[in-house]
Amino acid sequence: MSVGSATDRINLSAPWIDERDEELVLEVLRSGWLSLGPTGPRFESMLADAVGAPHCAAVSSGTAGLHLCMHIAGVGPGDEVITSPYSFVASANCAIYEGATPVFADIDPHTYNLDPAAVEAAITPRTRAIVAVDIFGYPAEYDELVALCDRHGLTLIEDSCEALGARYKGKPLGSHGHPAVWAFYPNKQMTTGEGGAVTTADESTYELLVSLRNQGRLETSSWLQHGRLGFNYRLDDISAALGIGQLEKLDRILESRRAVAASYGELLSNVDVEPPLADDEDHVRSWFVYVVKLPAGADRDAVMGRLADQGIATAPYLPSIHLQSYMRERYGFGEGMLPVSEDCSARTMALPFHARLERGDQERVAEALRAALV
Ligand SMILES: Cc1ncc(COP(=O)(O)O)c(C=O)c1O
Repeated sequence: MSVGSATDRINLSAPWIDERDEELVLEVLRSGWLSLGPTGPRFESMLADAVGAPHCAAVSSGTAGLHLCMHIAGVGPGDEVITSPYSFVASANCAIYEGATPVFADIDPHTYNLDPAAVEAAITPRTRAIVAVDIFGYPAEYDELVALCDRHGLTLIEDSCEALGARYKGKPLGSHGHPAVWAFYPNKQMTTGEGGAVTTADESTYELLVSLRNQGRLETSSWLQHGRLGFNYRLDDISAALGIGQLEKLDRILESRRAVAASYGELLSNVDVEPPLADDEDHVRSWFVYVVKLPAGADRDAVMGRLADQGIATAPYLPSIHLQSYMRERYGFGEGMLPVSEDCSARTMALPFHARLERGDQERVAEALRAALV
């Protein structure tokens, strides 16, 4: 392993790819069975086991998975879907794809997840579904959200794209019954290159997912017979093979990420930032990114600029979705609508973070951040 020098670039994220991954991918390439082969179902069954879900359908991205969940929930024109403004755009876009309107409810300033009271206040007769997001790998408030959905007859979809391995009330996310959507872009805990999956306890949802991702083919259809309008949201077998390699070492990956996070916690204890919320009995985070909140009034752009000058990558995670230009143009959203999310968006910042980030690099990041804030 090379020892990083004081000027080497420190990247924001890095996948953990090893010889086993290469071997598994090569096996599929050599088999010639690159899609709809035996590797996809193997990957799906391993992922279902990892999250404690009865069914798993792999798809081409987390976005595709969210879209299919909206489609299956029957979300359509005239409907409203409540979600978090402090998320990646896909958790709101999936509603728009089906002709529905995204409605944003404000978040908790420490978990950065939906505030159930704000969700309840946003419910109208048009509300059809809630997309709850486990942002930065921290589980959302499912007891409250499930109760709200039951009371108002709404569908709950979990955007767990950032949270593989997290636990809520002692059970893994994915095992709580409602559909959960996963994503495997290379910055995630595990990767398939591009890719995603939906896990669910409901067999008919699973069967619909399998048909819809495959151009609406029915189990009984031949290749050119389509029983419903579908999509090409399949995950190919090459990506699934990489996914198998990643799942084989998932525990190691998650443990290493936890250790890197603990190390940041120690190194940043004398730096004037709010660290990510610690776990409690009900919420066990899966470490996706390491996001700190700068003090009110700090010049985040300047801080990021100083770190960049030292070769340290950072990112302004996350902008509030309602303030993205296309959202303002489409719906007339503007500043002041969601004050907690907007304040977090202005002050939060992701530091370099991945399973194999070296202690020396973390020391450089912590020192650079401390110096940039004085
Ligand atoms: C919270 C959240 N939702 C959805 C997605 C979409 O996943 P993908 O990029 O695989 O489409 C991501 C990925 O970045 C995400 O972080």
